Amino acid sequence: MPTPEQQAKAAQLLTGPDWYRHAVFYEVYVRSFADSNGDGIGDLDGLTGKLDYLKGLGIDGIWLMPIMPTPFKDSGYDIADYRAINPDYGDMAAFDRFLAAAHDRKMRVLVDLVLNHTASTHAWFQDSKSSKTSAKADWYVWSDTPSRPDIGCGTYGPTFGDSAWTLEPARGQYYFHRFYPDQPDLNYRNPEVVAETLDIAKFWLTKGVDGFRCDVIGLLFETATSCELVPETVDYIKKLRAVLDSFPDRAMVAESGLGTPVAYFGSGKDMFHMAFDFPYGYFGWNFAFAAKTRDQVFKAIADTDAYPAGAQDATLIGSHDVARAYSRALGDLSRQRRAAEISMFMKGTPFVYYGEELGLHPGAQFVVDNRDFARTPMPWTTPQNHGFTTGKPWIDFGEAADQTNVEAEDKDPDSMLAFYRSLLAFRRGHAVWDTGDLKLIDVDNSGILAFTRTSAEESYLVVESFSDEPQDGTAKSDLRAGDLVRGNATIAGRRITLPAAGSAVFRSK
Ligand code: NOJ
Ligand code: CA
Repeated sequence: MPTPEQQAKAAQLLTGPDWYRHAVFYEVYVRSFADSNGDGIGDLDGLTGKLDYLKGLGIDGIWLMPIMPTPFKDSGYDIADYRAINPDYGDMAAFDRFLAAAHDRKMRVLVDLVLNHTASTHAWFQDSKSSKTSAKADWYVWSDTPSRPDIGCGTYGPTFGDSAWTLEPARGQYYFHRFYPDQPDLNYRNPEVVAETLDIAKFWLTKGVDGFRCDVIGLLFETATSCELVPETVDYIKKLRAVLDSFPDRAMVAESGLGTPVAYFGSGKDMFHMAFDFPYGYFGWNFAFAAKTRDQVFKAIADTDAYPAGAQDATLIGSHDVARAYSRALGDLSRQRRAAEISMFMKGTPFVYYGEELGLHPGAQFVVDNRDFARTPMPWTTPQNHGFTTGKPWIDFGEAADQTNVEAEDKDPDSMLAFYRSLLAFRRGHAVWDTGDLKLIDVDNSGILAFTRTSAEESYLVVESFSDEPQDGTAKSDLRAGDLVRGNATIAGRRITLPAAGSAVFRSK
């Protein structure tokens, strides 16, 4: 548990325009979190009922995966109406209750803004596809052939099919979609689309949301040679930022591409406040700790040196798009723990994916696509549908939910939940973890990652092992260790000795 002094300091850091740098976020799939009315589908009232659990975990902000009406061809990333709530999840009054309850607890809320494409059932697309002369004929991207010389990209990876062009018989033309054919791309070269989507952002900000997670925001415009963050997309993002800046204390996080997100920050003040550090979090879909060396992690952290002043890394080890952290750690809980530690000790704002704090195991059933394996219902208790619903859950629980649930882990001081609580309590109110300087240390054993974190007030040394065997190594520069304040390792001069699967934090100031 954080001390009252830590809580007071955290409250101070979380006040004012820089709040997001000092927050810990939690990504929620509303459909799978908590069901309030027994229809087997998680909803906003259910989530509202769990805010105290999140507060107790040490969460300061919630990112809601899409909550708007949807034909559900891509789990809500296919939006049919941008100014309403998916009836499965409640209504606008339920959203307002949720937002007020979060704000009462000093928790912020980011909503997912899916601007690159709409659902094919959206009224705009229904109009656009009806004829070449309809009111919204030019709101989407059309071609007489399944290609266009000014657009040099296909679908966004194999999940979404072979061709980015689908024939629309009513119009006799093909439309462009980076994702499923049910997700036609909007035409951002049309100023009406720009104006309308910025107005949607304004709508949610006026409602009082604290900002956005912006879905595939680098993909809005295409050219013949590039499809990510082309100059027109950068201009659009600057306009979106100006809309946010016209409201106090708002922030947005980019779903960047898989490379370094450095370009999403612009000057550090004119584009994104935060961008996901996928080079740390995803590693080309493999998990960092499946490797036995620090090399990829070392590089991902080193690359953040190029960020402009003011940019804040959004660190993570999982999301709704990749396998559960538990799976990517090859079912080895200590690997997940070390990966989570690095994501919380490196410089930035951590994002925890719901259930990650339980070490949730994957599911075996899918309704939309195989990403559902990592989107199973949150198990709150051992018996009775794990407290998720009084009805039949919309999708099966993941494996081992009898052991891996909040009730069971609450009772076990060695559980993953206890680990996450202690990790978040350890960081709480210590701004050094959020914004302090980070310096990587070169150690002659690539199974050891070492770095320092320093602010005017505090200085820490972090050491993490990538190995399941005891390790030692010698740093190429002097180490200032100080007192061991977490974990287990020995520092003697420049020599670091770690037990099997070990990690430690030392404090020298
Ligand atoms: C990224 C989202 O995270 C993913 O779940 C979705 O399928 C695509 N964008 C398309 O919106
Ligand atoms: Ca429900």
